[in-house]
Amino acid sequence: MRAMARIAAPGGEPVPLELEDRQSRTNRLPRKPPHVIAIYPGSFDPITNGHLDLIQRGSRMFDRLIVSILRNDTKEPLFSVEERTEMLDEVLHVYPNVEVDSFDGLLVDHAAAHSATVLLRGIRAISDYEYELQMALMNRRLSPRIETVFMMAHETYSFISSRLVKEVFSLGGNITGLVPPSVESRLHARLSTTKMKGA
Ligand code: PNS
Repeated sequence: MRAMARIAAPGGEPVPLELEDRQSRTNRLPRKPPHVIAIYPGSFDPITNGHLDLIQRGSRMFDRLIVSILRNDTKEPLFSVEERTEMLDEVLHVYPNVEVDSFDGLLVDHAAAHSATVLLRGIRAISDYEYELQMALMNRRLSPRIETVFMMAHETYSFISSRLVKEVFSLGGNITGLVPPSVESRLHARLSTTKMKGA
């Protein structure tokens, strides 16, 4: 005879739960580590206030949060990995449990090398969902022990992307409030050197 438990479903009939099934499934899952390390991967070309909001909130959820810049990005970046690392360091040094690094190759291998059990990603709108779901499922297939955690972007920042910030800025639009002030200064410096080179 199987041991059965009955719990009340919210607002409905009690649902029978087979304890043995639940116990054996739970025993097969890895235990929660005492110290949860999360990776927040991305291009960060450049970091926006949307990224920053997610990092701030993530830093309160995990013991350590490693913001990891993808090195072998197929996109043509505006800032080098070294410049992006500097920009992230300038903004993030105030968070004691947040670190910045970069990686090549598979994200799950990078996470495993840091003993991270969580990949943190932000979702701004439904349009992000399909790509994010695909990546999360692929990463789960590659490494079932690593869980992707999604956080909804704050509504104030849900329309911001690095790509749009660069586009608006290069066309003379105002980007104040969309990126940290130090990043805005870097964009101004980059634009003036590009103009000088083109002159
Ligand atoms: O900010 P982005 O550009 O959307 O970030 C994309 C990123 C870096 C998370 C993604 O391209 C990535 O994880 N690349 C590493 C390569 C990898 O692991 N690919 C297979 C998993 S989908």
